[in-house]
Parts: sequence; structure tokens; C-alpha cells
Amino acid sequence: MDATGLPPAIDPSSTPAWLALTQHTQRFAAVTVRELLGQPRDHLRLQAAGIGFDYSRQRVDDQALGLLVQLARETGVEALREAMFDGEHINVTEDRAVLHTALRLPLSASLDVDGQDVVADVHEVLQRMADFAQEVRTGEWRGATGERITEIVNIGIGGSDLGPAMAYRALAQHVQPGLRCHFVSNVDPADVLRVLQDLDPERTLVIVASKTFTTAETMTNAHVAREWLVARLGEQGVPRHFVAVSTNAEAVQDFGIDPANMFGFWDWVGGRYSMDSAIGLSTMIAIGPVGFRALLDGFHAMDEHFRTAPLEANAPVMMGLLAVWNRDFLGIPTTAVLPYSQDLARFPAYLQQLTMESNGKRVRRDGTPVDYPTGGVYWGEPGTGGQHSFYQLLHQGTDDVACDIIVSALPTIERTPAVDDQHDMLVANALAQASVLSVGRTAQEVRESGVPEELIEHKVMPGNRPVSLLMLPEVSPFTLGALIAAYEHSVFVQGAVWQINSFDQWGVELGKNVALGILADIEAGRSEDASLDPATRASVSDYLAQRGG
Ligand code: F6P
Repeated sequence: MDATGLPPAIDPSSTPAWLALTQHTQRFAAVTVRELLGQPRDHLRLQAAGIGFDYSRQRVDDQALGLLVQLARETGVEALREAMFDGEHINVTEDRAVLHTALRLPLSASLDVDGQDVVADVHEVLQRMADFAQEVRTGEWRGATGERITEIVNIGIGGSDLGPAMAYRALAQHVQPGLRCHFVSNVDPADVLRVLQDLDPERTLVIVASKTFTTAETMTNAHVAREWLVARLGEQGVPRHFVAVSTNAEAVQDFGIDPANMFGFWDWVGGRYSMDSAIGLSTMIAIGPVGFRALLDGFHAMDEHFRTAPLEANAPVMMGLLAVWNRDFLGIPTTAVLPYSQDLARFPAYLQQLTMESNGKRVRRDGTPVDYPTGGVYWGEPGTGGQHSFYQLLHQGTDDVACDIIVSALPTIERTPAVDDQHDMLVANALAQASVLSVGRTAQEVRESGVPEELIEHKVMPGNRPVSLLMLPEVSPFTLGALIAAYEHSVFVQGAVWQINSFDQWGVELGKNVALGILADIEAGRSEDASLDPATRASVSDYLAQRGG
């Protein structure tokens, strides 16, 4: 143990498992997914919290799988997992516990952290959120002029925006009719003003969502919204139309929001892990406290699976280890997240922050530099739209891209025979892509299908793209919670193997500070700031010339 109480960071690339994996990769280079699918692969089809995780189309064999599990053991994944669930300060650079899993514990549980039962605290806030959400939903909570609230505007950014925005879209079928949520995040004035221009302040509730309550974009947009409201309803309108979600009660009060209208959370909830904390207030108002509890139960079911299932049969563990395998041993730098569900359209954007803000790190948790690739790029779009856009590169481009295909067994809108038929078409496309991406088409098969000789090479599909197929029984609050938790824990496993701190984000700070300096220059009309690099000075000058007075 080092001063942090955690095992000292090791170099994973010098563990016996990593070295064996490196050797195995060389021998394995010519093996294809098509060949692998000729062997029994049922052990690569797991079930967790009701979701099917099918890894049988990954380019991995049993020997590699065994070594990956060995790598997890040699890098202390299980010990770090226990430390996280127990509330130890595994976020070493900020000296914080990492306890998003406590947000979804049932009331009957207890968890003592630094002398405090955090489960009681969590449920106290959940109850306040539920009471408030119900008041809004039933119309008991009225605006300053007595109007019912129908529009909810969540102002936040990053983890204070992406999760709630994604969930609102994903759970559209569960949103109370007559309620609409809007999300404002960008400091671009077009974002906040375009949202507000269509709203009636008398029927609007603004949620200012910011863990720190200092984030420039959020505070700027919150002030714009406040002025918009005060211009129509006066200062006395603010208490009925503004609530806050934050860990910073003082700043909330300074902004002019009554602490009675603030819903708190704790420093042990990372921004990108916070959609199931009070940051989910808009979600709870939209889908109701019962729906929100189901979302938390889905998260919790996956937490329990992750905490207790043997590594080999543990869906998030295997997902994380396969990500390490693809990244570090097969050299695949990106993963396309392809939900075959239009209501999951924002899921890839949500995952971008979860994965890349967590694992985009170049030093281990003790500050020593890594000399192996860490966090890969996650990106994506829903199918089938993506098929008519970027799939060409997935199929025949020169880079391998790993693919996570997500399907729901049921449609996300009310079922009719016509809806069912159309949904069948959607799922058929997902399964077809999973097959073609992984198995491909050989020249001989293309020739046998009657293609003229000169076109054969153009129509060969190399396949061999590693594909995971995630099948949800439906898109519901429960399954959405379970799906997100699976990715959270996959990210954890990757970070644990790489020995990095997945829970800080120092890299985003410098840009924020530099922006403040540039803003001061722009406001002063100054283009010759010696502290800026020459290219930036020139760009400031161009901007000043073009923006005019
Ligand atoms: O930009 C980094 C970040 O700190 C994210 O991690 C976080 O989700 C986002 O900014 C918003 O922070 P806050 O909730 O404090 O406004």
C-alpha cells in the first residue's frame, strides 16, 4: 500500500499476462472472426440485469480471454473494485471516494463513508426530489402567476447535461404527457436564446444544474435565463421558476436561489457519473419518481452483477477487458457505438464523456507516464441512419473499428402490427450489420453470386471487425440504468488495468483558463497579448477585425 491506501501503481505492460498476450497476438494475427465463429462461442454470450451481451463476434480466442482475465487479476481490478464500492478514496488526485454506486443502493442498505451513512443522505435527497417532482407533475407547484409548469429547462454542461438530455430522449415513451424538457449547455448564445424564445416564462421552470456552480457556460446561460424571466415576471418570480442542483450551497444562494429550492449531492459523485443523483431532477420530473426508482434499480442490478459475478461471466468486466484487448493488442483505436433505436440517439454523445473524460489519461495514478495506449475514441450515431453515412468506412476502410451494436427487442413507441413490422426491419438491419462487419464476404463468395470479374475486389468485404451485440428486452428506465452502469463499469475495468485515475479530468482545465485570458483580450480589443502564442494572436486579430464594433 502507498500513502493513498491503494496498492502502488504497477506497469501493466510488464505483467506476465500482458507479455503472454503480446506473444499470443503475434501468433493470432491471421485468425479471423469468421474462423472463430466456427468454434463454440456460447460462453461469450452473457446475460446481466436482463440485458444480453453477445461478445461472440469479437476477434478473440479462449487463450486470449484466459490471459485477459489473468491480466485483470495481476493488475488488481478486483481489489480496486472493492475499494470503490467501499468508499475508499480511489480518486487519488482529488482525494475523493468514487461512489456513484451508492446513489442507487436501496433504502435498506447502509454504507458508512468517513463516519457518515451515505445511503441515508442519498435517500433524503431522493425523497425531496420526489416530493418536488410530484408537485410539478400534479400542478400543485405553480408559477408566480398561478400557471401550471409545462416546460422544464435544464441548464448545465458535460455531466450536468448529457445524461439528463440522453435519458429524456431515450425514455420519451415514459414522459408525462404535457411536460416538455429542454436542455441548454453551449455558451453559444444561440443555444439558450433559441430555447427561451419559444417558451412562456409563466409556465417554465429552470433547473440550474452544476456540481460546482462555477462553470462559466452554465452560469452565463443561467444569468441569461434569469434576466429573461425577471423581465417578464419580476424578481419575485425567481423562487417559483428557478431551482438548483449542486454541491455548492453558498454559490447557489449568491445566485439568488433559495437553498430550500436546491437539491444537493456530494463530492464523491463525479460529473460524468451523476445522472442518477439530483442532476437527474429533470428526468425524475419527466418520468416520475417511480420511473426514476426503476432507473436506479437498473443501475443497481448491474452494480450487483459487476460486484459479484465471476470475472469470466461478468459482462462489464469482459466488456472492459475486450476494450483493452482491442486497443492495446489488436491496435484498434476507436469504437463506434451504434444504437438501433432512434430514442437512444444521444447515447453515443453521453458515452463520449463517460469514456473519454474518464480514460483519456497519459500517466498512471502515481504520475508515472504510460507507454501503452489508454482510452480509445468512442463515437457513433443511431442505425439505420449511420448505414447511409459512415458505415462504408467501417466495412471497407483501411482502419479497423470496433463496433457496439445496441438493439431493443421491443419498439419504443406504442405497438401496432405496422409498428412491429417496421421494428423487425430495424432489428434485421442491426443483425445484418453485425454479420457483415464481423464475417464479411470473400472474393469467392462474391464471384459465386454472379458479380462481374472487374467488380469483385470492389465488393469484397474484409469483415473481421470486432462486434459486440447488446440486446435490451426493451428501452425502459430499468434497462437504461443497467446499460449505463455496464458502460460505467467497463470504463472502470479499463482504467484499472491501465492503472490510471478514471475519475479526475485535469486536461479540461487549461483550455478554460486560456479562454478567460483571450476573452479579456477580445473585450479590451487587444490583439497583441504577448502571453499568447503567435497563431492565437493572429486569430484574435482576425476575429476583432471581422466582428466589427
Ligand atoms: O469540463 C469538465 C467538467 O468538470 C465535467 O467533468 C463536468 O461534468 C462539467 O465540467 C460540468 O461541471 P459542473 O457540473 O460543475 O458545472
